[in-house]
Amino acid sequence: MSTEPQKPIRRMTVPKLAARKGGEPIVSLTSYHAHTAAIVDNYADFILVGDSLGMVMHGMESTVGVPMDLMIMHGRAVVRGTQRALVVVDMPFGSYEESPNVAFRNAATIMKETGCGAVKLEGGARMAETIHFLVERGIPVMGHIGLTPQSSHVMGGFKTQGRDEDTWGTHEADAAAVAEAGAFAIVLEGMVEPLAAKITKQVAIPTIGIGASVECDGQILVLEDMLGLNARPPKFVKVYGDLLNGINNAVANYAQDVKDRKFPTEDEVYR
Ligand code: KIV
Repeated sequence: MSTEPQKPIRRMTVPKLAARKGGEPIVSLTSYHAHTAAIVDNYADFILVGDSLGMVMHGMESTVGVPMDLMIMHGRAVVRGTQRALVVVDMPFGSYEESPNVAFRNAATIMKETGCGAVKLEGGARMAETIHFLVERGIPVMGHIGLTPQSSHVMGGFKTQGRDEDTWGTHEADAAAVAEAGAFAIVLEGMVEPLAAKITKQVAIPTIGIGASVECDGQILVLEDMLGLNARPPKFVKVYGDLLNGINNAVANYAQDVKDRKFPTEDEVYR
C-alpha cells in the first residue's frame, strides 16, 4: 500500500473555468440531487442546479413558479454530493429582476445557504447593471441569453432564437453587455447555429451551448433529458441512456415479486 500522502481534491474555480475560453471544451450537466451530482462530479467541470428542476422534478408547467427555497434546498444537496465541479445555482424568476440590491440580497442568500460557487441569471443588456453590481460585490455570475425560459410568457413559448437574421444584432449586443458587465461565462440556449458561433467568436468569456453550436466553448444538457428519463426531450438532445425503460422494468419486476410473495427476508443476501 502506498504511503504517499493523498493530494486534496480541489474544486473547479471560476477563474479556471473562465480561462478555458477557446480551449478544452467545458463539460457541464444539470443536477438536482446529491446522488446524481456525485456521479456527474466525476466528469463535469461545472454542475448547474438549474431552475428547470421545477419542471423536471416538481411537475411545473414552466420555471416561472420556482421559489428561492427550492433552489436553496436542491443547491445544498448538490454541493453536499460533490467535491470537484464548480456548482452554479440558478436565481429563480422574481429574485433578481427588480433591482441590483434585491438581486444581491438573494444571490448572497443562495451562496451562503448552499455553499455554491456562483449563480446564474437570465437576460442580456437589461441585466448588465445587475451583473456588474453582483460581481463587484463578490458574487460570480454566469449569464444566460437566447431562449430564456423564465421569459417564456413574453416570448410566446420555448422558441429557438435568431431564426430571423434581423434579430442577430440584439442577441450579439446582449452577449457583449453580459461579458462586459463581468460575467465569467454565458449560456447560449436555443439559438440558431451560426449566431451562436458568431457570438462565441465575439465574446472573451466561454460560451456554454444548449441547442446552440458546436463552436461554443462547452455544452450543458439537462441530465434527465440525456439519460432518457424524459419521454419528450427537446429535439436537439442526444440521448445517452434508457432510464425511463430501465426504471419501468425494475418497478414492474418488483411489483411482480411482491405479488408472487417473493419478499426479501433478513437472511437473504442479494449482493
Ligand atoms: O435551468 C436549467 O436547467 C438551465 C439550463 C437548461 C441551461 O438553465
